Amino acid sequence: MELTTIHDEVREYYGRTLSSNDDLHTDAPHCEAVAPPRYVTEVMPLIADEIIARFYGCGSPIPPALEGCTVLDLGCGSGRDVYVLSKLVGETGHVIGVDMTPEQIGVAEKYQQEQAERFGYAASNVEFRLGYIEDLAAIGIEDESIDLVVSNCVVNLSP
Ligand SMILES: C[S@@+](CC[C@H](N)C(=O)[O-])C[C@H]1O[C@@H](n2cnc3c(N)ncnc32)[C@H](O)[C@@H]1O
Repeated sequence: MELTTIHDEVREYYGRTLSSNDDLHTDAPHCEAVAPPRYVTEVMPLIADEIIARFYGCGSPIPPALEGCTVLDLGCGSGRDVYVLSKLVGETGHVIGVDMTPEQIGVAEKYQQEQAERFGYAASNVEFRLGYIEDLAAIGIEDESIDLVVSNCVVNLSP
């Protein structure tokens, strides 16, 4: 297959070349200098193993005091940070994950119901949208609709 754009190359790498973070061509996710804060690590044991195995970020971009917030994760991948945020915003909050790689969104969506149950929620407070972070309007994300935008190792990949 001929790769024609940065989007194509990045999607190929995260969607097909990698099957877990053991395959990464970097050791950034294992960087202890950027260990996540305790309010994040406390949620990790509640996250499904496959989501954690396909975490390709580094450290944590998640601030404290998020109860009730609407949060957008740009390039959410398999959804580790989305699900950590799901717990931190609580049942009244909302989290949207955007990613252009179907394989990654597929893993994230697979655990939507299970993660809601793990957190003791009546219904999931997260959603995932397949699309480009450069064109959020195309996937229905409106201006002024988000309280907090986070992103973990993605903006550097954007053309
Ligand atoms: C290094 S991984 C990080 C994934 C996730 N944030 C995490 O921490 O596991 C980069 C992710 O960004 C996505 N991505 C890269 N460029 C993108 C773009 N322009 N639009 C949407 N998603 C993008 C890739 O598909 C991949 O899932």
